[in-house]
Amino acid sequence: MRESDVPDDLAETLVTEEQITAKIAELAAAIDADYAGKDLLLVAVLKGAFVYMSDLVRALSGQVTVDFMAVSSYGAGTRSSGVVKINKDLDTDITGRHVLIVEDIIDSGLTLSWLLENLRSRGVASIEVAALLRKPDAAKVQVPVKYLGFDIPNAFVVGYGLDYAEKYRNLRSIAVLAPHVYA
Ligand code: PRP
Repeated sequence: MRESDVPDDLAETLVTEEQITAKIAELAAAIDADYAGKDLLLVAVLKGAFVYMSDLVRALSGQVTVDFMAVSSYGAGTRSSGVVKINKDLDTDITGRHVLIVEDIIDSGLTLSWLLENLRSRGVASIEVAALLRKPDAAKVQVPVKYLGFDIPNAFVVGYGLDYAEKYRNLRSIAVLAPHVYA
């Protein structure tokens, strides 16, 4: 889906398809160089990261394997609470593995902070984060991100895996949702 397919629903383009493609090429080159000769496992956090994961793995030259986790926040409201429930765990035993967590967005940072500790406790050889988007103004906890795509403003963004009410995940760019859509 392109922005021209849902023009009334979007307020502003934040990151174009071309900018995403160029950034992924740059990040993939860095990942290839850093993990040369190593056995790398990419772990994507569902659902939002599925689009980024699929483009990132195809931009890599090295041999990698992939796995997926699904998590959700406990507690009241729609915001992250920092208390996370695993809805789908990894299929892979990550003991001694080099793990790269692939995330679409870091908002409060609470999900990723919890996930980093959880996976680290399984005895990984190394663990790093590749996040396409980060909202610095929304951070409640600082998370170390080795491979970052873009810092963005604290707005309601959709596209490239990110949803509103499960929609707009298939938008090719990243855009600010028009307020009337969620008002
Ligand atoms: C989003 C995103 C991260 C998390 C970030 O997932 O994919 O996992 O929120 O928020 P935080 O930094 O405040 O913890 P979401 O819960 O919206 O689920 P989804 O990926 O299935 O859409």
